[in-house]
Amino acid sequence: MTTDTRPRKLVCLTGFMGSGKSTTARLLASQLGWPNIDLDKRITEAAGLSIPEIFARKGEAEFRRIESEQLARIVAEAVETQKPRIVSLGGGTIAQPQNLALLREHGAVLIWLRCPIEDLLHRCAQITDRPLFRDEASFRRLYEERLPTYELADYCVDSHAEPPRVVEQILALGIFPKVTV
Ligand code: S3P
Repeated sequence: MTTDTRPRKLVCLTGFMGSGKSTTARLLASQLGWPNIDLDKRITEAAGLSIPEIFARKGEAEFRRIESEQLARIVAEAVETQKPRIVSLGGGTIAQPQNLALLREHGAVLIWLRCPIEDLLHRCAQITDRPLFRDEASFRRLYEERLPTYELADYCVDSHAEPPRVVEQILALGIFPKVTV
């Protein structure tokens, strides 16, 4: 008998805005037959507002508070059910030390989807729902600031590729039970 209450596999995708976390998580989860949880989606559901609305009406500090609260809920669900799951984090989630500490404490596996800044810029410039994408200079600055945090992840894959190729790289890490596709 074990007193270890950690979830068997809490696998979290991290990386900067535009690195493909949500799409990759969805594909990966469906190939594994695991549930997929999107932290940004949980935040918008909890707040009853879109992410740009939360930032505009309540400010970033409140967004970060809800983000930590929802992350704690996701971790608690994983501990309670002892079922594996794939979680796509927000680009700033693990930049909050208490979030990273919580994930570490519960044995979460962190996979960094690393993508060249030029690709991220290109992808994010086409989408208008990212309040932290203000202009190219601040985007580049935030990316540089966040890099040391992403480097703390357990694994890193190249997300310059199309999502199915990114999933292949993740499956090749050898951290999942064998899947037949
Ligand atoms: C953020 C990234 C966003 C979202 C919010 C803040 C960040 O998620 O959580 O706009 O701090 O980098 P994505 O990385 O999924 O765009």
